[in-house]
Amino acid sequence: MNQVGRAAFRPLDPEVREDPYPIYARLRREHPMAWATTPASGYLGFWFVSRYHDVVAGLKDNRFGRELAKVFPPDAFPPIPDEHKPLYGMIANWMLFKDPPDHARLRRIAAPVFTLRTVTAMRPRLEELVAAALARLPASGTVDIVSDFSSPLSIDIVSDLLGVPERDHPLIRGWVREITLALDLVRTPERILAGSARARELIEYFRGLVAAHKRGTGVTLMDLLVQARADGEYLTDDELLASSVFFLFAGHEASSLLIGNGLKALAANPAQYAAFRDGRVPAKALVSELMRYDSPQQIAFRHALEDLEFRGTRIRKGQTIGFGLGAANRDPDVFPDPDRLDLARDDSRHLAFGIGIHTCAGSNLANLEAEIVFSELAKRLPELKVVGHERQESILVRGLTKLFVEVG
Ligand code: HEM
Repeated sequence: MNQVGRAAFRPLDPEVREDPYPIYARLRREHPMAWATTPASGYLGFWFVSRYHDVVAGLKDNRFGRELAKVFPPDAFPPIPDEHKPLYGMIANWMLFKDPPDHARLRRIAAPVFTLRTVTAMRPRLEELVAAALARLPASGTVDIVSDFSSPLSIDIVSDLLGVPERDHPLIRGWVREITLALDLVRTPERILAGSARARELIEYFRGLVAAHKRGTGVTLMDLLVQARADGEYLTDDELLASSVFFLFAGHEASSLLIGNGLKALAANPAQYAAFRDGRVPAKALVSELMRYDSPQQIAFRHALEDLEFRGTRIRKGQTIGFGLGAANRDPDVFPDPDRLDLARDDSRHLAFGIGIHTCAGSNLANLEAEIVFSELAKRLPELKVVGHERQESILVRGLTKLFVEVG
């Protein structure tokens, strides 16, 4: 055991939450394999990897995986209380938590929806949804851009992709909000109960939606999922429901957080914002740099599927390892002057979408969505004035629960 790295990282400490980057810099230099502890009950700690090249190597290493059930006998886990089962049952079939071969099967089914070509064709509809979300903002005053714009918009976009009728978007937003709280590492028993109840309702809703999508009648993500089942891809009913719901969750939170993180970074760098607003920086370059600079998903978690050694550290079978995407994205060995927001950086090697078999399936959509959002916001808010924020408490993601911006 590498004692030097022990207890070197406490991701939930308030100062880490507000600004983890100086701590990441120290870890990259002194403890590239650090032991991270959290006060959350049931979490024993995890290895934290902070150097870019180590994160890349680890996420491509098939000795790390997601399915703990393959490592431990079934009775090693405490039984799930009945009232929590809808929540945990829902996530059990998510591709993100599957290793090969199940992972490849689940992922392949939806791939045609996310090619660059298909996503590019979605532009007019995305522009429509962004315009509708902007139209809901008041003409002047202070708005919370997270609750009033980025969060509902991101949920609407993926609901649309799944064929949820527009009239039901508010319903979906409410479910997603409560379930997200129940799935966070920091959560209360009440939140788990409430999330579980909402998960049951959401699954029932999607059951109805699946039934309404007849084979071969459309080209939405939901049609593809339904067709995959019918075409004998061996997508079971439970997997079909789980996959459709998974896209809702995989697709909305990071997209929403990127908008908050990005606006906050741009407000602190007015000359760069002006350069973008005045057309001197392409939207693609802006989005790539914002993804790198303050990445919505900070850590990609895996478990050691066997006893192994990684970067000189012995890791026991079943131990958790967190690959620091946010830390890697500030590694000076790859990104010169990494703590500077530099919209002219023109370097797309960031790991905000992860890497390896689980690399974000929706990255083309996420990039296009962000390009449209920031371009439209720059027109609507030529002077960006941020007047306050509240930060999310999470280990996995980094972002704001509120960002107050002056409009008008
Ligand atoms: C700013 C926006 C986004 C960011 C930063 C982001 C980031 C990520 C990351 C880091 C992973 C890998 C997690 C891991 O390896 O543990 C991931 C996976 C995934 N993302 Fe995204 N994502 C974004 C938006 C989206 C959107 C819009 C969709 C689809 C509607 C999407 C669908 C997925 C899916 C399906 C996976 C699982 C892939 C797999 O397990 O093979 N994401 N995302």
